Order: sequence, then structure tokens, then C-alpha cells
Amino acid sequence: MYEICDSSGWFESWMLPSFVLDCDHLRVIVCNSAARELPAIADSGASFASYFEPEDSKRITAFLQSLGTAAEIQILTGCKLRSASSVFELTAQLVKGGITVSLRDMTREYELEEQLRQAEKVRSVGMLASGIAHDFNNLLTIISGYAQLLQVSPDLNTERDRSAVEQVLKASQRAADLTGQLLSFSRKRPLQPVVLNVARVVEQTMSMLRRLIGAHIDLRILQDPLAGSIRADVAHIQQIVINLVVNARDAMPDGGILIIETSNVKLGADAGALGLNPGPYVAISITDTGPGMDPETRLRAFEPFFTTKTEGQGTGLGLSTVASIAAQYQGAVELVTQAGQGAAFRVLFPRIDEVADEEEPSPAAETLPGNETILLAEDDATLRSMIKAALERHGYHVLAAGSAREALQAAELCAVPVDLLLTDLVMPGGNGTELAEQLRAGQPSVKVLFISGYEGADCSSAPYLQKPFSPPELAAKVREVLDARRAESQNATG
Ligand SMILES: Nc1ncnc2c1ncn2[C@@H]1O[C@H](COP(=O)(O)OP(=O)(O)OP(=O)(O)O)[C@@H](O)[C@H]1O
Ligand SMILES: [Mg+2]
Repeated sequence: MYEICDSSGWFESWMLPSFVLDCDHLRVIVCNSAARELPAIADSGASFASYFEPEDSKRITAFLQSLGTAAEIQILTGCKLRSASSVFELTAQLVKGGITVSLRDMTREYELEEQLRQAEKVRSVGMLASGIAHDFNNLLTIISGYAQLLQVSPDLNTERDRSAVEQVLKASQRAADLTGQLLSFSRKRPLQPVVLNVARVVEQTMSMLRRLIGAHIDLRILQDPLAGSIRADVAHIQQIVINLVVNARDAMPDGGILIIETSNVKLGADAGALGLNPGPYVAISITDTGPGMDPETRLRAFEPFFTTKTEGQGTGLGLSTVASIAAQYQGAVELVTQAGQGAAFRVLFPRIDEVADEEEPSPAAETLPGNETILLAEDDATLRSMIKAALERHGYHVLAAGSAREALQAAELCAVPVDLLLTDLVMPGGNGTELAEQLRAGQPSVKVLFISGYEGADCSSAPYLQKPFSPPELAAKVREVLDARRAESQNATG
């Protein structure tokens, strides 16, 4: 057994913060300089356990009391200091005249473990989401599709019925947003990445944002006209902005200032702290003057399902979705906040050199009639009828089939050539891609438009319509694909 002899200096020179405690009351007799560097550590006289968080301090007292008379080194893990957010491992040993305790900082190890747990959680939510989203999107397409058809029906003539249909549409839109959220969270939404000008995406989302936040919040936009391009899916960027703006709105029920800013950022040595490589980035920053977050909330804000909102007000998926989307594009989210000081989020995306294409506004679907023949293959009968009814309203001739086999038969029996194959990507007994190939073998000029809930496929190369879609969206996309054929064949002949 050692004898405590402070004057010899051996204890003072220990690298780890170390203490000598009295055996009876577990009070600090003396501590070394490394210990004195820790915040709020008293030199002597204090109860050692009182340096730690209340739930740990009881554990520590019991641990030290249990050292008994044995001289072996004992270790206790996971002790959080009250004055710092660090986690320590305690090594204690009974010596003559007291107990020596050293602290080893294990914060980094704990954070890694926590990240691993988080990743596990994200994975399981992803599996759940992709499991239900496919069927759910079919149902939503049917619900909102029929409601929209009803909305323009001449038989709907009382104000009460109209408002009832409107409520159905509103609710199904909310449900569709939620599936979209789950899918992008679980990274199962088909990516359609294009070269984007972030400032323009923010501008296009503005009118919706203004409606979302209401008049009591002062919304300010600061766009750097020179902010560069990124490669991403527009819907993802909009979702990030919406999630952050909605959080800021919820944080400021009595009003405040909300600033949306786009800018170029150059990361140097500071990139590592965000898990990024140094280089040029484009940032979308969303800053509010709300109450901000206390350290506990800030620490857990990005955790899936963490919410401080009351039941039914929040699912706690908003910020984890934002982080998950940013990570998909090799980007990151930074949060600066303090209780009473508002919150500032900055989402960074790698900047690319290409210039974004100017997008042409698409004409309103109502002005897009057609008379072509469309072969529709969709295994869900209700959805099939809804799509058929929606297309027939625009003047198309629709051959509806419940499987790939039925579709091929219908095409064979039809007196006129099929102009467009509109097919579900996945059907029992044969998928949409195979059906398209088989049909093209007999009719090489047929145009193809795929529809699907999600299959995780990158559909940037083939025309694709994501479920749930509305009848106007369907009509616009069908017209676009049919007209693309005309342009191509005109180019080929002229
Ligand atoms: N701008 C903000 N100001 C203050 N606190 C915020 C802000 N943004 C997020 N938070 C805190 O972080 C928590 C998690 O946010 P997140 O967006 O992930 O979920 P939510 O908003 O509670 O629910 P959901 O977004 O799923 O509807 C919020 O409950 C809130 O406590
Ligand atoms: Mg939220």
C-alpha cells in the first residue's frame, strides 16, 4: 500500500486529474494541477461525489464505499461531471490514509457509441418506413385522386359537400407529406438529382413558406446572387427548408424574425469538425429569434423521434430528416443555439462548377387535353380505375390492364397503335421495365412512363411519376412525355 505523501510531488505530476479522498466522508483532501484545470473543482474539503451529475453522484458514493479494505484498482465508467459535458472513467484505489481517484476523459468514446446507437435507430425506422410506404402511397393516390375528380364534378353542388371534399384533400396531402418525410428520412425515395441553384429553389418555395408561417413572423430573405450550384433533388432541398422553417415558426408562436440566407462558404481546417472535406460549399442558413435550446435539447435535437412538442404536435423526425438528407449529398448540418438566444441552422452542400438549367414553367394541366391511346398497367384495381377516369377526362383513350400479361394482350387486340405505356414499376408476375421492353419489341415508337411508390431506383434516366400523384400532375406528366416524342420524331425527320 502507498502512503500519501503530498510533499514528495509524485501525485502532483500525474497527467490525469487525480484526487486523494478521506475514507470516512469521501471528501477531497488534495487534488493535482490537472484536476484543478477542470471547471468548478474545489481544491479540498468538497464531497468528491458532488462534482458529478446527481444520478452519477449516488453511484460514485456507493462505488467508493464498496472499495472496502482491498488494495486492488477498481474502475467505474460513465460518470458525468456537473460543470462540463464530459464523461469520465473513474479509477480508484485504497491507499494508506485515503483513496486515490483518477479521471480519464471518455467523452469521444461515448459520442461514438451514441452515434452507433443512432445509426441503428435510423436503420430500423428506414426498414419500417419502406415497408409501409409502397402500399400507403397507393392508397393516398386513390383517396386524393377520387377526391380531386369529385371536386370538379358537376354533381357536387352544395357548399357543404365541396368543403367536405376539400377536407379530404387537405388530410390526404398531409398524409402524403408524412410518407414523403419517412421515405427521404429512410433514404428510400428515388433520387432525381439535378444541378440546382439553391437561391432559386428557395425563391420558388417562398409563397408556400409565407402561407406556412403566417403574418406574425417577419420573414427575411438574404440571397447571395453569386451563390453557386449544387447537385441535389429539388424536393429534398425544399423539404430541408420547410422542416427548418416550420421548427422556427413553432418556436415563435408570438412572432419574431426568421431569416433565410443562401451563400457560398469555403471550409478549411474547420471542415473536419463537421465531418466534411475542406472545399467550397453552398449554405442555406435558417435563423430565428425564438427561445433557442438548452444544452440537453440541443444535444438531442437531431435524434429520431426526439421532440419537446406535445403529443400530436410533432413526430420528432424533422431535424433527423434534414441531417439524413444533407448526409446523402455529402453535406452536413450545423446548429448554433443557446437558451434565450434563438437558433441558427446552417445546411452545407458541396458546391459544383456547373450552372443550373433555367426551368420552364409547365402549363396548367387543365389546358392539356389529349386524344392518344394509353396502355395502363397497374395491379391495384382502385388505383387503376382512378387513373383511367382521370385520363379519360382529358380525352385520352385508355386501355386498362391489371398485369403485364393482360397489358400485352390488350395491346395486341387494339386496332390502333399504343402511343404511351403508363405502367407501375413493380407488379406481381412481371415488372414494368420488362413489360416496356416486350411492348417496344413490337411497337418501337411507344413512349413509356413509369409510376411507383418507391423502389429505391435512380430514375433520372427514364420518365417517372412518383406516387402519390394528383390527376393534374398525372395529366401534365403524360402530356410532357407524349410531346417529347413529337419533338424527337420531328427532329429525326427534319
Ligand atoms: N428553431 C428551433 N428553436 C427551438 N427549438 C427547436 C428549433 N428547432 C428544433 N427545436 C427543438 O428540437 C426538437 C426536434 O425538432 P424536430 O424538427 O426533429 O422535431 P419536431 O419539430 O418536434 O417534430 P416534427 O418536425 O417531426 O413535426 C423540437 O421538438 C424542439 O424542441
Ligand atoms: Mg420539426
